[in-house]
Amino acid sequence: MIPKPTIPVPSKRILLVEDNDAIREGIAQHLQIDNYLVIQTGNGTEALKVLNNFTPDLILSDINMPGIDGIELYKEIRKNPRLITVPFLFLTADNSAQSRRLGRELGVEDYLTKPINRQDLLSTINARLLRSAEVEVAHIGQAYLETVKVLANAIEGRDHYTRGHVDRVTKYALWMAEELRWPDEQMRMMEFGARLHDIGKIIIPDQILNKRGRLTPEEWALMQQHPVAGEKILSGISHLQAARPYVLYHHEHWDGTGYPEGLQGREIPLEARILAIIDVYDALTTERPYHPARPHDEVLHYVELQAGKYFDSDLVVVFLDVMNKRLPES
Ligand SMILES: [Fe+2]
Repeated sequence: MIPKPTIPVPSKRILLVEDNDAIREGIAQHLQIDNYLVIQTGNGTEALKVLNNFTPDLILSDINMPGIDGIELYKEIRKNPRLITVPFLFLTADNSAQSRRLGRELGVEDYLTKPINRQDLLSTINARLLRSAEVEVAHIGQAYLETVKVLANAIEGRDHYTRGHVDRVTKYALWMAEELRWPDEQMRMMEFGARLHDIGKIIIPDQILNKRGRLTPEEWALMQQHPVAGEKILSGISHLQAARPYVLYHHEHWDGTGYPEGLQGREIPLEARILAIIDVYDALTTERPYHPARPHDEVLHYVELQAGKYFDSDLVVVFLDVMNKRLPES
C-alpha cells in the first residue's frame, strides 16, 4: 500500500526576546518540542532589527534587559501598523503589582512569570494564538460585509424608489433564517445574498431604472437581465460564491412563470424561494414608480394568495408567521 503523504502544517513563528541565555534556551526548547519555530534574540535592539523584515505570529519578551527593555520594545512594536496585531506576552521575574499595572496600562495581553512552567507556557501561548486567529477571522468577516454594503449602496443610490429596500429585505431575510434555525455561515450568506440580490441592475440605465409608468418590451427585456448580470459579477468573487443563488434566482416563480430560467418548484434553490417572497412583499408595501405603497395586511394577504403560484406554500406559512410575530415589534 502506498503511504498517505503527510502535508506539513506550517509552524507558528515566535520571536523570543530574553537576555539570559540559559532561560532563553530553556524556553526555546519547550516551544520547539511543541513544533513552534523560535527566533531568539538577546535584547530589544536585536529584536527590532529582526522585526524590520519579519512578522512573527507572537512575541514573547523579557521586561528587564540592557538597552531597549521589554516595555520600550512593546511601545516601538505597537507604533508599526504591520506589527500592531501581533500578540505580545511579557516574561517577568518580577511579579509585582507595579509591573503588572504598567503592562496592563500599555495593553500587554498577558504575563508569564519566571521560572517558566512548561505547561503554563504552552497553554498561554496556544490561547493567545487561538484568540488572535479568531480576531483575524472576525475582521475579515467584517471587511467582507462592508464591501458588500458598499456594492449594494452603489445600486440603491441610483434607484430613488428603492431606498431602504435592501436594508429591509436583509432584515426580513435574517428573520426567516432565524426562524428556520439556519447555521451562522448560512445566515451570513443570506445577509450577503439579500444585500446583493439586485446588484445586476448596474447594467440598467438610470432612465429605465427610474422611469415613471410602464416599461417598453425592450426596456423590460433589459430589466430582466439583471439576475444573470448580477450572478456574473459575483462569480468572480471567491467569498461570495454561496450568495449566487439569491442573485440569479430571486425572480423565479414556484409555478415556472418567472425568470431567467423558468425553474419550477424545488428546482429553484431554497435561498431564492425565500428571497422571492420577501422581495415582492417589500416592493408592494413601499411606493414605486408604478404603484403606491399598499398596507402590510393587504400585502400579507396577497402573499398568502400566491402560495403555490408564485411562491413555495411551505415558506409562505413560515413567512406569514414570522411577519405577524416580528413586524409589530420592529
Ligand atoms: Fe431583482
